[in-house]
Amino acid sequence: MSDVMQSIKFNTIEVPNRFALAPMTRTSAEPDGTPNALMADHYERYARGGFGLVITEGTYTDGKASQGYANQPGIINEAQIDGWKTIVERVHAAGSKIIVQLMHAGAQFQANRFTDQPQAPSEVTPKGAPLGFYGDQTEWQTPSAMTRTDIQAAVEGFAHSAANAKAAGFDGIEIHGANGYLLNQFLSTYFNQRDDEYGGSLENRLRLVVEVVRAIREAVGEDFTVGIRLSQGTVTDPDHQLPEGEAGFRQIVEAVRDAGADFVHTTDGDVNRKHFVEGDESLAGVAASVEGIGLILNGNIDETNCQDVANQFPDALLAVGKKALANPDFVQRLKDGKEIADIDFAMLQPKATISNELAWREQNAA
Ligand SMILES: Cc1cc2nc3c(=O)[nH]c(=O)nc-3n(C[C@H](O)[C@H](O)[C@H](O)COP(=O)(O)O)c2cc1C
Repeated sequence: MSDVMQSIKFNTIEVPNRFALAPMTRTSAEPDGTPNALMADHYERYARGGFGLVITEGTYTDGKASQGYANQPGIINEAQIDGWKTIVERVHAAGSKIIVQLMHAGAQFQANRFTDQPQAPSEVTPKGAPLGFYGDQTEWQTPSAMTRTDIQAAVEGFAHSAANAKAAGFDGIEIHGANGYLLNQFLSTYFNQRDDEYGGSLENRLRLVVEVVRAIREAVGEDFTVGIRLSQGTVTDPDHQLPEGEAGFRQIVEAVRDAGADFVHTTDGDVNRKHFVEGDESLAGVAASVEGIGLILNGNIDETNCQDVANQFPDALLAVGKKALANPDFVQRLKDGKEIADIDFAMLQPKATISNELAWREQNAA
């Protein structure tokens, strides 16, 4: 038995319970990417609601091609660092810890204030359509295939942003390597059609991920928590699979550990989904079998299964998405044995902004 309400030492971070707020994009920063008071209230709400660890929404890492959405926050200049400082202080004052998710959109690019040209491993557009709740675009733009110079700039962006996150007082950082964004695109045989040392074999497709982890570790030093979120699926292709199956995913987890990552954060439609082309394990199961790396798990974790998942994975943090949107005080409600609501996606319409959510809450207040 491993009580979900018990505190846990997660690498360098003392987390007051096992619950993490999953990273969720809300496109509510200032147009120049500066985090604002609305965002500070928003993140503080989850800390007050009992989430031991807050993981921020995907945050862009350079003034080039990393931004993917209008009103997405960045962490690349003093104003943005200051905006995040306030959020970090508010979350800490409420008793929780906070890490920032660093994200390069790659081909999943809907709006960017620095460039009109998406960059990705190859000239391949995502499947499906752009996400309506993040912007009005109806078609994906064709990205340009990144040159060595573009790749180097992306690595430097991640490293600078991680150093900025440390300066802002964050407890750590999470690299977004999941859901079809740039680093996930390099791992994918759908997006990555390159024939240089960044494409082809899994070892080559892993090269950029490994370079990013190493560069970040070098930028932040040893005693700062660094992790990476990983998935097989993407936002518009949730059933996508790695051709190398379970063995390939183990190779990825070992490679990021050896490059200096302290944790991996697996995300899938369900935390226990068995969806490898070969083998009978979940992403979480494979990651848990790798020695020497911490674990955050995500995928349909709720009030009914959280204790079972915690027992199954006694050292892992549990990241909660939809149930947290529906109940910003999910953890407190669970503690108090109060009713927990299901998500109503109307709260994220027509756009997934915090102000739309607040308007929806006001309208739906009993
Ligand atoms: C509105 C919204 C925004 C999201 N934004 C991000 C994001 O910025 N980064 C990320 O890694 N995942 C993002 N996700 C995915 C969630 O972190 C999570 O993986 C997903 O909701 C599944 O977890 P759940 O079953 O607990 O909801 C987002 C999900 C939603 C609903």
